[in-house]
Amino acid sequence: MRLLQIIMPVLRNYYIAMTVLLQQLFRRSSPLPVLPQRNGKVAIVTGGARGIGFHTAKHLARLGMHVIIVGNNESDGRQAVTRIQQDTLHEKVEFLFCDLASMKSIRNCVRNFKAKNLDLHVLVNNAGVMLEPEGKTEDGFEKHFGINYLSHFLLTRLLLDTLRKSGTNDFNARVVTVSSATHFTGKVNLEDLQSSHCYSSHGAYAQSKLALVLFTYHLQHLLTVDGSYVTANVVDPGVVNTDLYKNLCYLGSFLKWMTGWLLLKSAEEGASTSIYSSVSPDLEGIGGCYLYNGERIKSADVSYNIELQKKLWTESCKMAVLPVSS
Ligand SMILES: NC(=O)c1ccc[n+]([C@@H]2O[C@H](COP(=O)([O-])OP(=O)(O)OC[C@H]3O[C@@H](n4cnc5c(N)ncnc54)[C@H](OP(=O)(O)O)[C@@H]3O)[C@@H](O)[C@H]2O)c1
Ligand SMILES: *[C@@H]1O[C@H](CO)[C@@H](O)[C@H](O)[C@H]1NC(C)=O
Repeated sequence: MRLLQIIMPVLRNYYIAMTVLLQQLFRRSSPLPVLPQRNGKVAIVTGGARGIGFHTAKHLARLGMHVIIVGNNESDGRQAVTRIQQDTLHEKVEFLFCDLASMKSIRNCVRNFKAKNLDLHVLVNNAGVMLEPEGKTEDGFEKHFGINYLSHFLLTRLLLDTLRKSGTNDFNARVVTVSSATHFTGKVNLEDLQSSHCYSSHGAYAQSKLALVLFTYHLQHLLTVDGSYVTANVVDPGVVNTDLYKNLCYLGSFLKWMTGWLLLKSAEEGASTSIYSSVSPDLEGIGGCYLYNGERIKSADVSYNIELQKKLWTESCKMAVLPVSS
């Protein structure tokens, strides 16, 4: 029984990854349409120092945005800033330190951001970890749950007032959250969100990515109800060649090395749906969508469960020590 609980999430994740890879064999990624300049608008990209986040940050800078990379490695972050400044000849790129495994650090980061007195037009919740061995964040949450999901829940909630102030009827502010096809295999178990009953790194990753979809839909619901000029969408980048796979087993790493060049998207290709969702006029005023290859598709059935969305929201407020209303 216990063995099954460990093996099933692995098989489900590999199955999903294989189906996506097969699709990518025929269609790697759709090219980005020409996007409008967004001079002077402000964007935050978590995990923007590497991988998909780096290319997202770089493209937004190229469109004239003031880009703030949020990350937990000061030297990597500063290097990424310099690279983007050199590549885009755009000065307004900066780094803000934030360890998403620490609520104190997230609150500090938001305080530092707010001290700059800037607007915020785009928040890209991109950072993430995968296949981490069992472990806890500073606040005692399971790592995938804490770093991928709860940190972004807290960050978004703390920045929502700035997003609301910055959005207008013509230019809604946008929250873009990076999930994954793995969410299709995920289960959100409200009785055991910290996976303490039977830990599976595959299961914990999938849960965190499903939680991000549920979060986005409920957030959009609340934003619609109070008439805010802010929209929330969630994206799936595909299977992308990044350091996210650093914890893959030997066999997995070998297969990735053999076939990666053919099947995996480059980090730049992987960033395209995040970029599209952050600035495309097609999505002006539109929220509550799950996007893949620049198109709206259906997410897992369970992600549309309104009761589950609400319960997860309420639980998350408690865990992040926030009032339930937004
Ligand atoms: N690659 C794929 O195939 C794929 C597929 C589906 C979804 N995604 C999602 O895409 C997003 C980006 O991943 P990626 O593929 O670009 O992986 P990546 O290259 O490993 O980038 C992840 C980023 O998150 C940051 N991060 C991790 N832990 C952090 C923490 N505690 N505090 C602050 N930042 C932290 C990392 O910073 P450090 O290096 O400093 O830790 C890094 O910049 C993730 O949410 C991932 O789940 C990726
Ligand atoms: C930051 O990343 C570099 C490699 O990119 C690594 O050598 C260094 O130890 C990291 N620093 C911290 C504080 O994790």
